[in-house]
Amino acid sequence: MTEKQLTPKLQSLLVHIEDEEKKRHYERLISTLLEKGYFPGLAEVPVVKSAISHIDGERGILTFRGYPVEELAEYCSFEEVCYLILRGDLPLEEELQQLRRQLLAKKDLPAELARLIPKFSPTLHPMNMLSAAVLMLESSDKGSAEVGDHKANLKRSVSLIAKLPTIVGTYLTKDPEFHQGREFASFAEYALFCFNPAAAREPELVKMFEESLILHMDHTMNNSTFSARAVGSAQAGIYALISTAINSLSGPLHGGANERVVKTLEQIGGPEKVAEAVDNSLEHHQKIMGVGHRIYKTYDPRAKFFKNHIIAKIFAEQENKLRAQRPDLWNLYATAVRLESYVQEKLGTKKLYPNVDFWSGLFYRALDIAPEYFTTIFALARVVGWCAHWLEQMENDGKIYRPHQLYVGFDLRHVAR
Ligand code: COA
Repeated sequence: MTEKQLTPKLQSLLVHIEDEEKKRHYERLISTLLEKGYFPGLAEVPVVKSAISHIDGERGILTFRGYPVEELAEYCSFEEVCYLILRGDLPLEEELQQLRRQLLAKKDLPAELARLIPKFSPTLHPMNMLSAAVLMLESSDKGSAEVGDHKANLKRSVSLIAKLPTIVGTYLTKDPEFHQGREFASFAEYALFCFNPAAAREPELVKMFEESLILHMDHTMNNSTFSARAVGSAQAGIYALISTAINSLSGPLHGGANERVVKTLEQIGGPEKVAEAVDNSLEHHQKIMGVGHRIYKTYDPRAKFFKNHIIAKIFAEQENKLRAQRPDLWNLYATAVRLESYVQEKLGTKKLYPNVDFWSGLFYRALDIAPEYFTTIFALARVVGWCAHWLEQMENDGKIYRPHQLYVGFDLRHVAR
């Protein structure tokens, strides 16, 4: 397309955008798109219109339905933010109590699945187990293939959000009745109970765990949300799309990074060994797990909250106690602190900062949760976002995802027979 043809086309596409800076940004983006036509990793290519969350990557701001994530984490409960993300606004007291009751009432699994999960091979990674178990929920919800009814979709979403911790708890304990006989005051308390029952008796830990869940609930068009939307666009049911999203989240470049961060810290072995380990990784073009982000060009606000509100309380404010009672854990923390500053020295010019996975793993380790389970915690928070995107998509967008490829294979040829 020549520049003469391009200019009026661009102007007509952008006529509704008033902000001049935004207009220039989109002009640049669309002209590159038309000119190059190929964006590896779909970087900066807008694929949906969504009103759920927003990232300002330059200023390090993440909002859910307009509210900064730090405010939501500090002042709201899991249930409030879940309601906000699913339905668009914070709940009234009665709506909040109703959602809390529903989440706790719907947490039990169908009996057959609850009996089956403990029989899964213990070598199955918890994320793959979670994905498989979610898919199996379909067998006791036959109406789920019908996706056109918003009310039914919302009900199914709440029921599925409620069940994720139970799936993980059943696999972890190998006991289908692990949660019976105990009352829970909130979803966060129950979710923490599924990983560590003793910790769930300490309100301060429950609050921090709840904050960590809220920080993870949604994050615009990330890889797993995009995957969920792609499956949703084919009008597949909720279990198929959430199972797919869990598979995407398990990858080390996405949610799986939190598990790798702690394993890397353990391998490094101490703050004095950080420089050598990082230099070695960079020399071999290996990425440092928990560092970098496609959108943030400054410190990830979720990582900042983790560091200042959660990690600080667990580690920095209890230094003497931890050094004496849990030297291994303290050593992990000291290694992470050194890693953060060394990565800044080495990669600061590339605008690479710790992301949420850098600090979250350390918190989960302090809660005595095994690294293989870290990403399941991410999943049982992010499922709220996946469901919200599905609800939004089913309401607004009927088009199946079917992007274009640039074919680089053989020209037409024939079998020589
Ligand atoms: N360690 C070292 N270098 C990194 C890096 C990391 N974690 N992340 C990015 N870079 C470098 C790349 O090598 C590249 O350098 P170059 O321009 O000299 O080639 C540059 O930064 C851009 O990286 P790229 O991989 O193209 O960015 P992306 O937007 O495609 O990827 C991530 C974003 C998150 C996938 C990437 O930063 C990453 O793999 N991080 C580690 C995994 C992780 O923590 N994931 C969780 C994300 S919340």
